[in-house]
This record gives sequence, C-alpha cells and structure tokens, in this order.
Amino acid sequence: MKKAFSLIICLFCLPCLLLAAGTPSIKVDTDALSLVFRVGDNGRLYQSYLGHRLHQQTDLNQLPLGTEAYITHGMEDYFEPAIHVVHNDFNSSLLLKYVSHETKRTADGVEETIITLQDEKYPVTVKLHYVAYVHENLIKTFTEISHQEKKPVELQKYASSMLHLNNAHYFLTEFSGDWAEEVRPSTQPLYFGKKVIDTKLGSRADMFVSPFFQLALGKEATETEGEVLLGTIGWTGNFQFTFEVDQLGGLRVISGINPYASAYQLKPDEVFRTPDFYFTYSYNGKGEASRNFHRWARRYQVKDGDKTRFTLLNNWENTSFNFNEEKLVSLMGEAKDFGLDIFLLDDGWFGTKYPRNDDHQGLGDWTEIQEKLPHGVAYLTDAAKRQGVKFGIWIEPEMVNPKSELYEKHPDWVIHLPNRDEYYFRNQLVLDLSNPQVQDFVFGVVDGLMTKYPEIAFFKWDCNSPITNIYSYYLKEKQTHLYIDYVRGLYQVLDRIKAKYPTLPMMLCSGGGARTDYEALKYFTEFWASDNTDPIERLYIQWGYSQVFPSKVICAHVTSWNRQTSIKFRTDVAMMGKLGFDINLSGLNADEAVFCKQAVKNYNALKPVILDGDMYRLVSPYEGNHTSTMYVNEGKDKAVVFAFDIHPRFSEAVYPVKLQGLDPQRQYRVQETNRMPNARGGQYAEPKTYSGEYLMQVGLNLFTAYGTSSRVVEITGE
Ligand code: GLA
Repeated sequence: MKKAFSLIICLFCLPCLLLAAGTPSIKVDTDALSLVFRVGDNGRLYQSYLGHRLHQQTDLNQLPLGTEAYITHGMEDYFEPAIHVVHNDFNSSLLLKYVSHETKRTADGVEETIITLQDEKYPVTVKLHYVAYVHENLIKTFTEISHQEKKPVELQKYASSMLHLNNAHYFLTEFSGDWAEEVRPSTQPLYFGKKVIDTKLGSRADMFVSPFFQLALGKEATETEGEVLLGTIGWTGNFQFTFEVDQLGGLRVISGINPYASAYQLKPDEVFRTPDFYFTYSYNGKGEASRNFHRWARRYQVKDGDKTRFTLLNNWENTSFNFNEEKLVSLMGEAKDFGLDIFLLDDGWFGTKYPRNDDHQGLGDWTEIQEKLPHGVAYLTDAAKRQGVKFGIWIEPEMVNPKSELYEKHPDWVIHLPNRDEYYFRNQLVLDLSNPQVQDFVFGVVDGLMTKYPEIAFFKWDCNSPITNIYSYYLKEKQTHLYIDYVRGLYQVLDRIKAKYPTLPMMLCSGGGARTDYEALKYFTEFWASDNTDPIERLYIQWGYSQVFPSKVICAHVTSWNRQTSIKFRTDVAMMGKLGFDINLSGLNADEAVFCKQAVKNYNALKPVILDGDMYRLVSPYEGNHTSTMYVNEGKDKAVVFAFDIHPRFSEAVYPVKLQGLDPQRQYRVQETNRMPNARGGQYAEPKTYSGEYLMQVGLNLFTAYGTSSRVVEITGE
C-alpha cells in the first residue's frame, strides 16, 4: 500500500520537478516495461526509450533524446508521418510542441498518461493517451485531435499510435489468409523501406489479414525466447499498420485507421478520437506476450471477460436452411441430452415476402417464415424452456439482400452507387450505418426481438459482406467519411444494445472469422473463428488466434467436417476454445454419444482452467506432425494438456512434451481424460504422480506415430 502511494506521488510529482529543470521526462510504466518520452530544447516531444522497466529516475535525463514521438507531415522528416492536417489556408504543415502532461490512476492497476501537444502557428491540439495496465504489461494508446480554426480542417492521416524501435534486426510476423483459411502466420525480416499491412473491407477488420502482428527484435522469437512486441488495433473496419525502417536503421510502427479514401473534415472544437492500439512487449518470447494479452482481455476488455461461457448446439452445419419447428424442437432435446446449455438457431428463419430459404433473399426482413415457423419464435423459446436449454438466434442486421422488402422500402439506406450496376458479395449489400435512421433500424432488430421474445438468451451476429459499391446517400458530399462513420455507427448501435441488455451474451461472426478485433469484443462475449471446422485446420487456426485472443472468446465447434478424424479428435480440438457442437448428434453411434456427453461434463469441470487459466503453446503444428497446448490455473494446482498427432509418418521418432507454467516443487497427479468408452491402454490411463520439475524438464509421452489421434491429460496438484 505504502509502495503504491509513493508510486502515485512519484508519478504526479516527478514530471513537475523535471519540468522545473527545463526538459520534462514522461514515463509510462508497467511492472516490467517503461516507455519514456522527453521534451527537447526545441519544445518537441521525443520517444527516448521503450523496453525493460527503468527504475532509477536519475537515469531518465541520460537517455538519448530519441525520435519525435508523433511525427507530423510538412516538417523536416522524410518518412511516414503519424498525422497530416490541411488547415483552412491550405497549408498542410503541423509542428507540435509539448504543452503539458498528467498521469492519473483510472482503475485498480490502470494508469493513464495524457500528453498535450499544440502547434504554435495554428490552433491545433493533439493529445496522446497512454493507458498502462500495470500488472498485465500492456499499454493502450490513442490520440485525440481537435482544433479551433474557423472552418473544418481536413485530416488526411490520424494515427492511433507511433512507436519507435532501434535494433539491428527486425522480424515481422503477420497473420494472413482468406475465408476458411484465417490467421496463417508468416515471418519476414524488415530492411530499409516500408511494409504496410492494411485492409479496405469497410465493415470488417480482417479476412485477408488479421489486425495484429508480432515484431521480434534482434532475432526471431520463439514461444519461450526472444524480444517481441505484440500489437493489435481495436477497430472493426479498415485498419493500417505501417512498418518503416529509415536510413539509420530505426523502425517506426504506425498504427491506426487506414486513411485510404478517408480524408476527414473535422469541425472546430470537435474531437477526433482515434481507435485504441494495444501492445505488450515480452523478453521471454511469444508465449508470454500472448498471456499478457489474454489476462488483460479477460480482466479489462472483453464483454463479460471475467465470466464463464455457455456450451451450445448450433444447427447450421447440420440442417443449413432446411428445418421446421418439429426438427428444431427435437434438436433442443438433443442439446439437453448432451448436457449443452444453449440451442442456437442459425440463418434461414426469417423473410415473409421473400422467405430466406437460401442466401439469395430475405436478408433485412426480420419476421419469421410462416411455412417453417408457423407459431413464431415464441413457440421455440417456450419449447427450449420446456426442454431445459436456453435459446439463441442468428441475425445479420447490418446487411440486406436486394431481394427483400427492406431494400424495396429503403433503397437509400443501402450502401450502393446511384448510377452503376450493383456488385454483390454473397448476394447482399451493406446498410449505411452512418445514417442514424439505419442505426435505429439495426438496433431495432435486436430490441424488437428481445421485446417480443424476452426469453432469447443469446445472439449470433453475423456480417457476411465487406462494403462494396461504396456510396452513402446520407453522407452526400462527405463520402470520404463513410468508412469511418460506418464503424462509428456500428458502435453507436452496439452501445445501445449493451446499455439495454447488459447481460446478453453475443457471438460475433463474419463469414467465419473476418471480425476479430478488441473493440468489437467490448460488445461480444466471443467470436466465430472460421467457417472451416475441419479439426486439423482448426489446430492451425486456433493456434493463430491464440497469439492475441484468450480461449474464452474463440468459438470452436464439433462438426462433421473431415469425418476421417474421430469424434474424439474433433471434440478434443474444440475443447481448447469455447466448446460447441454443430453436428447431427442423433447420427452418432452409441460409443460416440457416450463419449461426447462425458466430454461436455469434463469440459464443464475444466472450464476454469481452459477459459481462465494461462495458456502455454508447447509444440507448434507448424513445426512438425504434432502439436500440444496446455492451460494452467492461477494457483498452479490444476492444468490440462491437449496433444495431437496430425499426420505422423510411419514409426517416426516422437519426443516427450515438456510442460510449462507448473510449480517445480509440487507433486502432480497426471491422468488421461476424454477417453473413448472402449479405449484400452495408454501410459496415463491410470493416475501417476510426478513433480512439476519432472513434468517441465523431462516431460510426458503424449505423442504417437500411429495415425491421426489425440490425448487430453489432466494435471492435478497433490
Ligand atoms: C456465415 C457464418 C456461418 C453461418 C452462415 C449462415 O457464413 O460464418 O456460421 O452462420 O453465415 O448463413
């Protein structure tokens, strides 16, 4: 307590003392990291340091001045700037000088530093915010831009964050892919010049590339070794990361909204608040960086991050659009029988004039299809209640099929060009969320359903199209605001939903995993990671997402994709995330059904470890024919290890899996769980006891070389 108090005193007073000395140093600290700024004699702000925590205040003034913290367009720098403003007189230069800073504690373990900069020639103010999550070693940054010129100024660039790094070698890992092949990592060295990762999808952050990256310094990082910065942006739309190495070998990382086709007219006194950029910095490899993010996400960012998650049965992979009341009620019975919490009704339940019996029509018309659901959703929520499961429902409220009553009534609500043919992505168009009337409509989809059917306990919110044919009837001459105002409009809607239905869990989906960012996750309890549910593919996809997202938010369903793998293999894979089933359960044989029911029980018992524990990626699927991941609870007295043989070669050599994160001094009981009813043998079928030291130094024999198979092992402190 005393320590904390003196820290606060320090945080408040030190800058003032240094100010008195003439050149203020501003230090943003977490338990392990420091980010230090200094003000030069010219009054400009420089980033002097980013790295291990510096404890001696006297060292700060010894630091090299560094590189200007938030570089502006139009001055003496010759590389990418963070900001570019065009003033009322068409002059587009900006020179920002330090005015003041403050640091305040905003919550337990959270300290925010705000540095105010101003131009002396033009009344433009830029506030740089650095929010330190002290124990998670994570820093959130964003920028506020405002001015008092007479007319709007034009913002051409408006970064959330600019960071400077200095090292002889940089290695950038990006995560790219496409529909059903999300988050494939690839690493490249950075040399002189620029590497840009960005998207122009409008309504989603990712699809071709995810909004996060790893940057290793000095040498490539492994799971347990190396210096690595892990960064991501919270913006459910076009984003951009720019990595530029200059002639001296310095690297600047600029993160923010993609300024592509998005010049913004900022009115006098209006504040342009950029999205948040979040980063952590680990000296112990990628695993630690991920765990920092996971802990922070659960504690501070994700909706209901501190709460557990429901298991569910979804009908999409099983029935697609072909269902009726009777079928759905029988599926609810199966969900109950298998011990699942929610039955989730997917696409295909709505559309009156244009019933949604395939994906060509009906989107936008949120009333039940009479032929399929003659008694409406109420009948289903009642049936779910009788069966003892919760009821969830799929919506895609931001979108419209041209063949819909909504489009017929409100063509001006749709983003499309007035004078050209329409081009469709999955036969649909995007509604114009920059328009407040459209925001009301989209809010009304959820609110209308909840008002009419208050027993709805879960939503799956989909977004199957990027913005195409870009033109807003509402924005008129401000077309370049559309990409930004679309996303802001979406947040307006989600804010209203969260305020009115604060405890309603919602899954975010976007044709699989095309919407996976931390701002969206303020409103959603989880996301659908990919339409690809082949368990082997999922091992890679879940590995990719786990770099930055905790298992709690990564939905993983057991389906009938890749039937060559056993139901056990598929279930073991899905149990590493937020477990669900999307399969014809009545088609399982007796042993498979017994296995699945027991697996759901096991999962429920292991949820505190899998969903809230620390994750250690032990063996990468990218480095061989096997992979393993483990989770350890905070007290280090319970862990669970998942091990998979993907495509082992005949009789290839296999090696023990060395565990991590346990207490070396402690004795642990090791026993295999999730076994098929008829399973025989197995080294850990019966409990065995080992020390934590043994488990971490010698390891367990969890891999085999006899075909695709899997094992789940529980580790319990004695
Ligand atoms: C998207 C989703 C799927 C499913 C379909 C329904 O593709 O990713 O899970 O909901 O839409 O049309």
